[in-house]
Amino acid sequence: MCGIVGYIGSRTAYPILIKGLQRLEYRGYDSAGIALLDNNNVNVYKCKGKVRDLEQLTNGNPIGGTIGIGHTRWATHGIPNDVNAHPHTSMNGKFVVVHNGIIENFAHLRNELISRGYSFKSETDTEVLACLIENIYTSTNVSAETAVRIALTKVVGAYGLVVICTTEPNKLIAARKGSPLVIGMGHGEYFIASDATPIVEYTDQMVYLNDGEIAILTNDNLNITNLNDERKDPNVTTVDINIDNIDKGDYEHYMLKEIHEQPISLSDTFRGRINPDLKQINLGGITEVLPRISNAKRIIIVACGTSYHAGLVGEYLFEEYARIPVEVEYASEFRYRNPIINAGDVIIAISQSGETADTLAAIRMAKEQGALILGICNVAGSSIPRETHAGIYTHAGPEIGVASTKAFTAQVMVLTMMAFLIGKKRNIISTEKYEEMISNMLKVPQSIEALMKNEAHIREIAHLYKDATNAIYLGRGYLYPVALEGALKLKEISYIHAEGYPAAEMKHGPIALIDQNMPVFVLATKDKYYEKIVNNIQEVKARRGQVIAIVSEGDETIRKMADHVIEVPNIDEALMPLIAVVPLQIISYYVAVMRGCNVDQPRNLAKSVTVE
Ligand code: G6P
Repeated sequence: MCGIVGYIGSRTAYPILIKGLQRLEYRGYDSAGIALLDNNNVNVYKCKGKVRDLEQLTNGNPIGGTIGIGHTRWATHGIPNDVNAHPHTSMNGKFVVVHNGIIENFAHLRNELISRGYSFKSETDTEVLACLIENIYTSTNVSAETAVRIALTKVVGAYGLVVICTTEPNKLIAARKGSPLVIGMGHGEYFIASDATPIVEYTDQMVYLNDGEIAILTNDNLNITNLNDERKDPNVTTVDINIDNIDKGDYEHYMLKEIHEQPISLSDTFRGRINPDLKQINLGGITEVLPRISNAKRIIIVACGTSYHAGLVGEYLFEEYARIPVEVEYASEFRYRNPIINAGDVIIAISQSGETADTLAAIRMAKEQGALILGICNVAGSSIPRETHAGIYTHAGPEIGVASTKAFTAQVMVLTMMAFLIGKKRNIISTEKYEEMISNMLKVPQSIEALMKNEAHIREIAHLYKDATNAIYLGRGYLYPVALEGALKLKEISYIHAEGYPAAEMKHGPIALIDQNMPVFVLATKDKYYEKIVNNIQEVKARRGQVIAIVSEGDETIRKMADHVIEVPNIDEALMPLIAVVPLQIISYYVAVMRGCNVDQPRNLAKSVTVE
């Protein structure tokens, strides 16, 4: 949520900032801006719209300077417009700030500053922060970094911020609480950004700032302290991100690229985790805590959005194969409803970004109460994996499209491996079943590849329903969470109202909506619910609904009753979510493209939700 980028060194900052903002645009894209420090002059350019609008704005204007900061915004305080766009300059022009997060006590601080003669141009909390820093700086005669530090002790809320002081122009000051910041270590230069993607082409040596830390960056020095001004040693890590993974390649959109990457990303999720003899699953990240997980009285999965749907699949898997009771909770509800957490509980946080504010807060709360906290995250080095006791990376590679696709299948695959491993350890499943499931799991990538050969057919179906105003998705068992995920995919990128339901619940409400205009996507592969879901299809057809059924290869029964069928390869029902979700992703993608929607950057959404 909001992307920040900064540079200090000897290169021209402008192209680094613009490229960095393009890479971060998935975090927010309602406005963009940069500030360039050139010979003690600060040039600020900012506007409503995308980074390409910002580039047009700078066209023909001075863009020199080797120090600069940039921002791409997802509005919290104040509508997206030119004035509310970042960077924000303090009233007397001494400080320029980019900020990700929310200053919760900004109204109080604003009133205090007004009483001291300050006035404001924007409606943002960030301008208040810039003025607060300036007010401390000018009234107490301290250094810029001390002014920032004092200001932050007065602030309630979350921030990742980078500050330029125009009267101390040889440094950038950065601080973090709640919103991520990564520093790239160059030679005679430093990069800073909300995540590693704008930095990887310059260096793979990075420092992840911790909450409560302030970094002062000059050309040749990085100094990190905490809010009490105590020095902290930077912990430099080598980040392994392939630059090709963050480019679109030949694809029109990241989402399509990421859908197509799933056979490879799932193979990456397995890599090194299945013994060569295919008889054993190794999950190095949780080996030490495996006994505690196996003896868990209860597993609580906390997550948001698509990751929550992956968690629901996990519930079916863990209860069936490991026989451990599971609860799946929206992190935002869990954290505030005073949940009962016992010492024997294991909490699993699932998060692609590893930065979702509610998920992070939920695990902090559960950690205080003594639970074992595990993470299933995609972004290495992000906040959630750094705060968990143990965890498993999904290794899906960078996911840039706002609508999650390959991260979902990777999360489900990790949960599948965990469930079978724990089930085996608890002697719930036999060695034969365990080995059979391992070899079935390894077939998933090729099954996805096979079904993607039907993409043209799936696209034709998308064309038929592109003008729908509503849609219903039905599934049972393992495929109920997939119905929820299919509906979420459609609504988030094509803005068609869509609801996912357990198929049997249709009779308790959604059936009232069904008429000849209602597309009903039914997940109806051959599993233990097959006969029942066939009945549900009949019920929809009896009310003249349009049925699009995802069926097992060779299913002739449903072909005769549904309006359209999409065949998927047969596989064990516990693995079917990994396969059945793919046609739903493809349909959503093409419907959105055909409706002229911005697939990778759907309106009002952001990929990384770092505010609650
Ligand atoms: C946002 C994204 C979703 C994502 C959700 C949870 O809403 O747009 O794609 O599923 O956040 O994010 P996380 O990074 O925690 O998985």
